[in-house]
Amino acid sequence: MGTFGSASAQSTFSVPQDVKDPYRYQVGFGNRFASEAIPGTLPYAQNNPQKVKYDLYAESLNGTPFVTPRRDNQSAWIYRIRPSVAHQGFTELPDNPDLESCFLPLNPKVHFSPTQLAWYPLDIPADSTKVDFVAGLKTLGGNGDPTLREGLAVHIYAANESMDKKAFVNSDGDFLILPQQGRLDIQTEFGKLMVRPGELVVVQRGIKFKVGLPDGPVRGYILEVFGSHFELPDLGPLGTHGLANPRDFESPVASFDIDQSAWEVVYKVGGKLFICKQEHTPFDVVAWHGNYVPYKYAMEKFIHVGSIQRDHIDPSIFCVLTARSKTPGAPLADFLIFSGRWDIASGTFRPPYYHRNCATEMMGLIYGDYGGRSDQFAPGGFSFENGFCPHGVSYDEFKKATEAELGPMRVHEGTLAFMFESSMQVTITDFGMKRTGKLHEHEPKMWDDLKGQFMNHIDQVNADLKAAGLPPLETQ
Ligand code: FE2
Repeated sequence: MGTFGSASAQSTFSVPQDVKDPYRYQVGFGNRFASEAIPGTLPYAQNNPQKVKYDLYAESLNGTPFVTPRRDNQSAWIYRIRPSVAHQGFTELPDNPDLESCFLPLNPKVHFSPTQLAWYPLDIPADSTKVDFVAGLKTLGGNGDPTLREGLAVHIYAANESMDKKAFVNSDGDFLILPQQGRLDIQTEFGKLMVRPGELVVVQRGIKFKVGLPDGPVRGYILEVFGSHFELPDLGPLGTHGLANPRDFESPVASFDIDQSAWEVVYKVGGKLFICKQEHTPFDVVAWHGNYVPYKYAMEKFIHVGSIQRDHIDPSIFCVLTARSKTPGAPLADFLIFSGRWDIASGTFRPPYYHRNCATEMMGLIYGDYGGRSDQFAPGGFSFENGFCPHGVSYDEFKKATEAELGPMRVHEGTLAFMFESSMQVTITDFGMKRTGKLHEHEPKMWDDLKGQFMNHIDQVNADLKAAGLPPLETQ
């Protein structure tokens, strides 16, 4: 047997390869990464040297104002073959009538709904029409306006064509994209991400990306936030680990193309679309460093916590990502998931209790069967409850739950449902109200069976009152 000297093996962690995903990633939420497709390209000890290696152009991209405190500051330096400013000018495109960005009541194209709404899954475009990711964006509702830097939008995308020599920049907000059908092959300035149903991807405001469809037609959900960036929720008494762990978030590595052909970059600015032509690919970044970088996360990795004794913990325990509003302590949007886990709270009414939430609740289903719903909730469907809209299960579900044998049980097995929850009031677009062909209201009759069973106990109540020396109830 030979002798072993001091260990000299050195390596860094990289995410294991996956047959569904050919790309490499760096891990860690909000890290300041450094990545170079050609070793030795990144400038050393400065960001903007007089001359960058290989005559690359240095370009700065910031996602927060320069003076934002360090803990919230997000920016990147990118080193590319041609700078973004090398373009041939902008032209306004015709409006996409199904894309909305102003959700203020002064906009006649948005509407309030005091009642619960739900949508069956939106159709994917027929083969006869070619629709790419950008053309396939349709807005259901939202709050605020991107010009106020406060608000959000909820979009559905449905597309059947890959973007070719075309990139997209959303100048309005950050996109949290949830594929529901089909993977998205997303090329960004920072590298490539393959994102499947069950994973989320965040592409921040101002970052160029294009979307390929390796599995054919796609459909999914998007939560766009205008005013802030997504962050991990604080864990409070949970301590350091749990819910979505920072190391499970994956960012791309630098990857570039050499392509001096004609490209189009479509910008979304205040919900309007503009096109910018250029004679080179926007995906020519050889090296970059910074923390304003797209990331993805496999939601099956979420570490659920819950009551192990009785009652439910608040739904905030399902929070994957949150985005702050300008009101301290009030989220602009929380992104929550509901998936397979143990439920062992004994002596507890298990379904969601009847409630009136000050927040707006918007739910979708990636896969599986959420169960116990009144709105034929199917993968690709969506539901909506504005703040204080009362909701809860039918009498049948209520009765079943009050009589069920209780014990440890698996809930939501094989299911991934999610909620966009916002402290803001959300308005519904013309598209959502009038043009989907998939909208339906909950039939209020389903709650008619929730009778006042209390009245069946009047004799007992009066006997109890008498025993307590109190007068009986007066019944009419
Ligand atoms: Fe609710």
